[in-house]
Amino acid sequence: MVEHGGTDLGPAVAWDFSTNANPLPPPEGLSMALAGADRRRYPEPSYLHLRERLARSGLGDADRLLPTAGSAEAIRRLTLLAHLQGVRHVWTPWPGFGEYAAAAEALGLTVSRYSSVEELARRVSARRAAGERATMLLWVCDPCNPTGRCLNEPSWQRLAELCRTMDLMLAADLAYAPLRWPGHASPGEGALPSCVRGIAWQLWSPNKALGMTGVRAGVLVAPPSAERADVDRLLHLAPSWVLSAEGVALLQAWCEPEVRDWLGACAQQLATWCDEMAADLQALGWSLHSHLPADVHADHEGPGPMVPFLLAKPPAGEGSAQVLQRCRAAGIRLRDASSLGLPSWLRLRAHVPQARLALLACLRNGQQVVQA
Ligand SMILES: Cc1ncc(COP(=O)(O)O)c(C=O)c1O
Repeated sequence: MVEHGGTDLGPAVAWDFSTNANPLPPPEGLSMALAGADRRRYPEPSYLHLRERLARSGLGDADRLLPTAGSAEAIRRLTLLAHLQGVRHVWTPWPGFGEYAAAAEALGLTVSRYSSVEELARRVSARRAAGERATMLLWVCDPCNPTGRCLNEPSWQRLAELCRTMDLMLAADLAYAPLRWPGHASPGEGALPSCVRGIAWQLWSPNKALGMTGVRAGVLVAPPSAERADVDRLLHLAPSWVLSAEGVALLQAWCEPEVRDWLGACAQQLATWCDEMAADLQALGWSLHSHLPADVHADHEGPGPMVPFLLAKPPAGEGSAQVLQRCRAAGIRLRDASSLGLPSWLRLRAHVPQARLALLACLRNGQQVVQA
């Protein structure tokens, strides 16, 4: 099974830094929408009203929007479609989220990891030169989990050119786009630059931004370049009622102006808390991933993460496994970034001040048990 942050088999923790979910309490409109979800009936199976609502919020034409049970499900389904279309080779970002490779490996596909756009270009060209002909699937995660970085415009343009000249099917995982700070003017179409908007399959799942990761809901946006038959096939690969009543309620609430405004305010607040946490950790002698040499981040926009999570490494003499264990025993969960491609690094989301103080107390004082 792919390793994830969040709930584990141990007792519930007081403070969870291990997922990238928004820790702020949900706005009333969202809580009421979820409480009002009608669990006594099946959702309407074509999800037409939901797709129309999402379309009006800027995600694209309703007949190109496919509700999903969250992006983990969308990753599996899109990989299956690619496989059925003849794709045999999948490129995944590294460091990166493990579900892309897991989905491909489950279908017996070849997985290659790339760590920069130039490296990707070089290796894809070599494959083509060696006679590999079938379309290849290319995953991009923007903002990226675990680095929090966003690709810059020249990198997107290079990717667009590669897709065109090297026959790559582009899939953009936008799971963290709703918490990006500074944000995009428009939450939907503006999330990708125009050079890839027409060709990228977009995966949206606002449950993290809305602080509701237990509600499994998302939407896959088919690009204008996709054939209608492929969009229909993707639809038929999903079970009926793939989205629960709560999932419908969550996505509908996400479209409401009140919830969008709240999200914008959260992104700003969390960015401040993230900076404060970074400063606190540095004061304790921790290293921050955003301070690695510039070439590690050459493809990216801005000086650091654009979402409220960060990668940090304990000072020499303190192993990350030890710190993880110590914090877990004190009721605080952090995310080991090894399975995301960064051994000895930990990923922490921005959290409310009380949680940050509890974390700092634990890091300073060792065994202290923390109460929520
Ligand atoms: C980059 C990325 N994509 C997708 C997912 C899965 O999202 P969902 O909860 O919508 O299945 C996660 C969850 O951690 C993630 O980090």
